[in-house]
Amino acid sequence: VKIGVLISGGGTNLQSIIDNIKNGNIDGEIKLIISNRKEAYGLTRGKDAGIESIYLDRKLFNSEEEYNLELIKEFKARNVELIILAGYLRVLSKELIEEFNGRIINIHPSLIPSFCGKGYYGEKVHQGVLDYGVKITGATVHFVDEGTDTGPIILQEIVYVDSEDTVDTLKEKVLKIEHKLLVQAVKLYCEGSLIIERRKVIIKQR
Ligand code: GRF
Repeated sequence: VKIGVLISGGGTNLQSIIDNIKNGNIDGEIKLIISNRKEAYGLTRGKDAGIESIYLDRKLFNSEEEYNLELIKEFKARNVELIILAGYLRVLSKELIEEFNGRIINIHPSLIPSFCGKGYYGEKVHQGVLDYGVKITGATVHFVDEGTDTGPIILQEIVYVDSEDTVDTLKEKVLKIEHKLLVQAVKLYCEGSLIIERRKVIIKQR
């Protein structure tokens, strides 16, 4: 499966996909990595792995829609079949979601539907978890639909919140689970094991 990856930051989720393609665990090929932020270290990770990695400057475009039309163009030019949002902090346009319907996977650092949607991204998610005082949090991998963090859930796994946890310690614990779940979900997708039926994801047993 030809994969396109959208990033905005450090790219540790991207790195876990790169590593698991290289070791043969994921039957896929990353054709293009696009970042909306020039200084995203994920671009370096892509280049070091010999993958075409580009910074697409949002300021060159007049609207979010036009920016997304360019994303569609770049991905389609490389026959991308699956888009992975790996720490990507912009919202996708309706056109892009329709164009790649059922073929966009996102990783979110909480147990959706808790601590997600508008305003809950990056460290704000973990701050919300600590502020609320929940005893468990975790990570969710899901297909992207027209909402924010609302698409069919593929995999989830919990992380226990300890009394002495801080945003940083919690982020580290959750990030490890994100890497594990994202790799597993992409592997299943590439094996053709993920079925979406009435907004629910069924995992075909091998
Ligand atoms: C992390 O906060 C992660 O929870 C979220 O995006 C952020 C950056 O991840 N998915 P990465 O290291 O850039 O993959």
